[in-house]
Amino acid sequence: MSTPRPRLAAAREVLHRAWQLTDPELRKSVNRLDDPLRTVAAYHFGWADKFGRPTDTGSGKGVRGALAIASAVAAGGEDSDGVPGAVIVELVHNFSLLHDDIMDDDRRRRGRPSAWVVFGRAQAILTGDALLSLAFEAAADRSRVGHAVAADLSVALLEVVNGQSADMLFENRMDIGPDQWQSMASGKTGALFGLACALGARAVTTDERRIEALRNAGRHLGLAFQLVDDVLGLVGDPDRLGKAVGGDILRRKKSAPIVRALHDDPRLATILATAYTRSRPPSSSEAADLVALVERSGALDWARTEADGFRCAAMTELDTVSTDPQARRALEAIADAVPRWDRLSRRNSN
Ligand code: IPE
Ligand code: MG
Ligand code: MG
Repeated sequence: MSTPRPRLAAAREVLHRAWQLTDPELRKSVNRLDDPLRTVAAYHFGWADKFGRPTDTGSGKGVRGALAIASAVAAGGEDSDGVPGAVIVELVHNFSLLHDDIMDDDRRRRGRPSAWVVFGRAQAILTGDALLSLAFEAAADRSRVGHAVAADLSVALLEVVNGQSADMLFENRMDIGPDQWQSMASGKTGALFGLACALGARAVTTDERRIEALRNAGRHLGLAFQLVDDVLGLVGDPDRLGKAVGGDILRRKKSAPIVRALHDDPRLATILATAYTRSRPPSSSEAADLVALVERSGALDWARTEADGFRCAAMTELDTVSTDPQARRALEAIADAVPRWDRLSRRNSN
């Protein structure tokens, strides 16, 4: 299947505009934290250096927030309707990254040392907790919609946590098949993408069918995004990604191409199993050899094609409810850019 030429310029514009709307609200929320948590959060978001001095080093691409805003428009509203949902999902996303970098032992994020490397594990964990609390605070609202938002958030969060738990568990297992990968990724990534779209829609409609279609579209986009992230985790450009490449192999992660190779290529499965079950992690040069073998097996191309399949599935979901092509333009622009999301911004990865 051929991937359409990504409309990167359109996606960049959509993300930029969404971030302009979301960033001030996020800052307001985070500024209410006490130090040192406020400084850790500001560093993680790229608003300040480790001493709290203002910087502008990149807060991530804001894909999830942009999806909330684009979904509000696709459901018949305005950009501004999607902003409260965008703030919630960006807070949750950044909570999860602060914890994830500790779990994955990843020392770089967004082109700079991860927050835990600079401030220590305890402060990074607590800052993550604080961002999650701010997300629930933002969701707490006595209105009927507010109740549904808090319920959506709780459900999605449990899925994210279960997905993360599976991701960690899989490091020590070799018997992971594509279905298990999908269920793990649907939790750790798909749930939050789905939440973003659902919250955007919920802000402007009470039509549950429409909200669910957007949630499903988001979930599919999340899976597409994770497939591409898994490919880039093996062969991406660390400068573009702002994080280390090859870490998934060193951590013995069962990322999508690895699962595919384990499942469908017995010869490569044996080589991978030997490297992954040794007591010491693979060396950098062994990891590079493994990546070359995985690439030659076709597993990277498989993952790219799968990603495109999920992107198309997301658009098909939209077809069931959205009739105005103009209203879904921003969502489509984001979806089209998923295969090349590392190019959306130079420093602003994840
Ligand atoms: C992160 O997944 C998912 C969550 C934080 C819930 P990954 O561990 O695969 O993502 P990166 O590669 O560190 O960004
Ligand atoms: Mg990680
Ligand atoms: Mg992880």
